[in-house]
Amino acid sequence: MKTTLFSLVFLFSLGWLAQSAPVRIVLPVETAALRKGPGVELAAANCLTCHSADYINMQPSLVRTAWKASVDKMRGKFGAPIPEDQVEKLADYLAAAYGKPEPVK
Ligand code: HEC
Repeated sequence: MKTTLFSLVFLFSLGWLAQSAPVRIVLPVETAALRKGPGVELAAANCLTCHSADYINMQPSLVRTAWKASVDKMRGKFGAPIPEDQVEKLADYLAAAYGKPEPVK
């Protein structure tokens, strides 16, 4: 009985010691950044809440229509809380910083 009680107290103390040890968590430094340009702050506020800038940086150059579709997809499919009246401004920024001209018809 005494041994059992002692073991319990011992194990409890071990548990307490393990819990009180500080846990240090070091996250990798975020290095991906959006390209500079008019509207970059708007994009940073609306596009970096769910994923890093790499998702945008890794895309090939897209025409404005495609960038607008991408913004619509983030809103519609993925539920990004982007206000309706910001969509065109975001498409402008993305097309200027990551775009290519629309093909001439
Ligand atoms: C609500 C969260 C959310 C926000 C805000 C958001 N995205 Fe996304 N985005 C996602 C998810 C989820 C994916 C898909 C990830 C995957 O396939 O692994 C994604 C993927 C992407 C991709 C990769 C291609 C693709 O279509 O899958 C691009 C480019 C992209 N996002 C651009 C943007 C831009 C530009 C904005 C701002 C206008 C934005 N995202 C804001 C959730 C978000």
